Amino acid sequence: MIATQRIRVGVLAGGASSEREISLATGIEIAAHLDAARYEVTLIDPLALMADNAALTDEQRAHARALAEHAGVMEELPERDRRELPAALQERIVKGSSGLVGANSALIPAGKEHRRLDVCFVAIHGQWGEDGTIQGMLELLGIPYVGSGVLASALAMDKVMAKTVLAASGLEVPAGIVVSRTGWPEERESALARAEDLGFPLVVKPVRQGSSVGVVMVDASDGLSAAIEAGFALDDRVMVEERLHGTELTVGVIGNGSELRALPVIEIATKAEFFDYRAKYDPELTDEICPARISDELALRVQDVALAAHRALGCRDLSRTDMIATEDGRVVTLEVNTIPGMTANSLLPKAARVAGIDFGELCGRLIEAALARSA
Ligand SMILES: Nc1ncnc2c1ncn2[C@@H]1O[C@H](COP(=O)(O)OP(=O)(O)O)[C@@H](O)[C@H]1O
Ligand SMILES: [Mg+2]
Repeated sequence: MIATQRIRVGVLAGGASSEREISLATGIEIAAHLDAARYEVTLIDPLALMADNAALTDEQRAHARALAEHAGVMEELPERDRRELPAALQERIVKGSSGLVGANSALIPAGKEHRRLDVCFVAIHGQWGEDGTIQGMLELLGIPYVGSGVLASALAMDKVMAKTVLAASGLEVPAGIVVSRTGWPEERESALARAEDLGFPLVVKPVRQGSSVGVVMVDASDGLSAAIEAGFALDDRVMVEERLHGTELTVGVIGNGSELRALPVIEIATKAEFFDYRAKYDPELTDEICPARISDELALRVQDVALAAHRALGCRDLSRTDMIATEDGRVVTLEVNTIPGMTANSLLPKAARVAGIDFGELCGRLIEAALARSA
């Protein structure tokens, strides 16, 4: 019998965003759950390509150089993760990251003896991963990949652009304003006045982050200016939104074309003040209830919103839309994630499981969809 060659899958994980460690957790689990009889999986870190990127810290660039030179670099968790992530998750990230290979050798193999990758699974959250940059590089290299293309990725990552597109499609988004770091000294007073006009409590968040990094709730004027200025450490634009109260819901969407479907609705019930970084990754703090304890009518409505948001931004393969259903009957979309958390216990895989699709099967389906595009 002639052995058929397995499909070479590159799972891209890590990168240089503030969600690097969460991305590693996602990538490690995807790699572990792909059917080894069908797929030959390499866990690849694009950080290795970023040694000369001036936007990175010296520490990140040193890490990038080490990864570019040899595999098996020991991951050192940032202080925030050592403080806020459950110990078992920290251990999985550190252990799993020893299998990372630098994207320099893995994506662009030297010499003819190396077979190139057949497909990539982008498992990088945030900047340089979920924002269209990695997708652009894969387009350039001609490697098919799972998930949204350049434009949809870039639109969804930028919460201001996403809100503009969603509102133009008739979806409700939170009332809010945007402030820029460059205009801040001159516009400070007028921006604070416009923000206060929205009415407290307010939410301040950087325009292009994820995992609630930099999201701050502000209850009164005295905290507003400092919260905005803190946001400028994470992005050059910061948004201030009305704080919505109600039931927080999230809906995954998978498939394409006539197969596009919304997964069962998940309700987020957290003991924390809101669904912040710690609450997202510590199961002790948050119950993620699926199906959500809402009426069938509301469930259908929020599923329709998630489908409409996915289509409006031009997403592909998968997305997850975060919403709040208010007590007075509004369904307000906060944001759309094009690369949602993809550990077996993350929100979208959890909803898929409720719909009868286990995690390994979900990852396999996503890869087959990407491969079908290149056929
Ligand atoms: N306008 C808002 N009103 C109430 N809560 C909000 C609002 N915006 C964000 N939040 C809270 O902050 C969390 C993170 O915000 P989100 O916009 O989803 O950004 P990300 O998940 O990309 O960090 C939400 O899950 C929600 O708990
Ligand atoms: Mg969110």
